[in-house]
Amino acid sequence: MFFSKCVISLKFFHPIMLQINTQDYSIVFNNEGFIALNTLLAKNNYSKIFVIVDNITHEHCLNILLQQLETETVIEVIEIETGEENKHIETCLGVWNALSELDGDRKSVVLNLGGGVVTDLGGFVASTFRRGIDYINIPTSLLAMVDASVGGKNGVDLGHLKNQIGVINTPKLVLINTLFLDTLSSVELRSGLAEMLKHGLIKDQKHWQELTALKDLTLNDLDRLIYDSVIIKKTVVELDPLEKKERKTLNFGHTLGHAIESYFLTETSKTRLLHGEAIAIGMILACYISEKQLGFPTNDTEKIKQYLIKIYGKIKFTHKDIAAVIALLKFDKKNEHGNINFVLLKAIAKPQINCLVDNKLIYDAFEYYLK
Ligand SMILES: NC(=O)c1ccc[n+]([C@@H]2O[C@H](COP(=O)([O-])OP(=O)(O)OC[C@H]3O[C@@H](n4cnc5c(N)ncnc54)[C@H](O)[C@@H]3O)[C@@H](O)[C@H]2O)c1
Ligand SMILES: [Zn+2]
Repeated sequence: MFFSKCVISLKFFHPIMLQINTQDYSIVFNNEGFIALNTLLAKNNYSKIFVIVDNITHEHCLNILLQQLETETVIEVIEIETGEENKHIETCLGVWNALSELDGDRKSVVLNLGGGVVTDLGGFVASTFRRGIDYINIPTSLLAMVDASVGGKNGVDLGHLKNQIGVINTPKLVLINTLFLDTLSSVELRSGLAEMLKHGLIKDQKHWQELTALKDLTLNDLDRLIYDSVIIKKTVVELDPLEKKERKTLNFGHTLGHAIESYFLTETSKTRLLHGEAIAIGMILACYISEKQLGFPTNDTEKIKQYLIKIYGKIKFTHKDIAAVIALLKFDKKNEHGNINFVLLKAIAKPQINCLVDNKLIYDAFEYYLK
């Protein structure tokens, strides 16, 4: 299989010292990231450092971080339960209470050490505690490195509806260290890859081609490709921080992808899909719709479908499932005035936002996916 863990040999760690500066914070890679973190902590003279982890990153990632921290400031660890099902307001309540009981104040800082659930939820908790305290993202999953930790969007789900509650507020620093990926499972790596592929499809054909040409993942490839993917995300976000135009393109594959992810979370008879797995399906469906609506090349739709199904497999959808997924579209955050807004492609790297799509075409797209 494409993602066998053994090919990622972190023993041959080759530090590429890179930094990406956004308008209001830096994303610093590998060992340089720890240096930047220590510098920032010293400079800001925080009253307390709160590290938010989930039970898995507590086990696998916390020691790596603690060994690198050079500070006299008191460090408290707050643990949440792993999983998307815990990305909700009750978990925030627990963390807000912990911050309060552990004497968090306006000069405290939160370090989010985990995947996208920890960075989304921790960013939201920090942005709202005492009307907002500083936070730093230290993503430990591939998905969080290339996507969730960058761009300042944070928040939680409402019931099973994804990301309905939240704010846009940027971190003080993002630290990306591929060392953390050593313990990440291959299915989670695959989930992160979906967002990288999305970056290629909406913005950079070369990135898409390089990713799809990989036979397996070596650390050198991963370091560079993560960097390229983060550059794409950062560029798109900076063009349009408030998501009026360009930033919406990052939603490619997500309109149906989120609905599919939500549906599989609610349906007890279904095995849960990871975010990237749902987005991969959403991207196939969006390519088909793009072909019919905007003339996206048929052979590209087919190549993308073949590739994504090879990596992610094919999921079964009954007619009832499809109807339920379509019904969930009305909760998509990108909807305006009751219209469901799709991001489609005229060609690879030529996205078009605000596309209205007929339900019949969505059914056809599922049929094409299942064929
Ligand atoms: N804010 C944004 O812009 C944005 C963008 C994309 C996705 N997201 C959100 O991100 C979330 C998905 O992120 P995710 O895939 O990282 O999910 P996740 O946080 O649930 O992490 C996936 C799993 O990997 C484990 N894990 C993380 N790092 C590990 C490591 N180094 N070693 C071993 N296990 C590790 C976690 O404990 C978890 O079980 C979704 O909630 C999605 O909505 C947000
Ligand atoms: Zn996503």
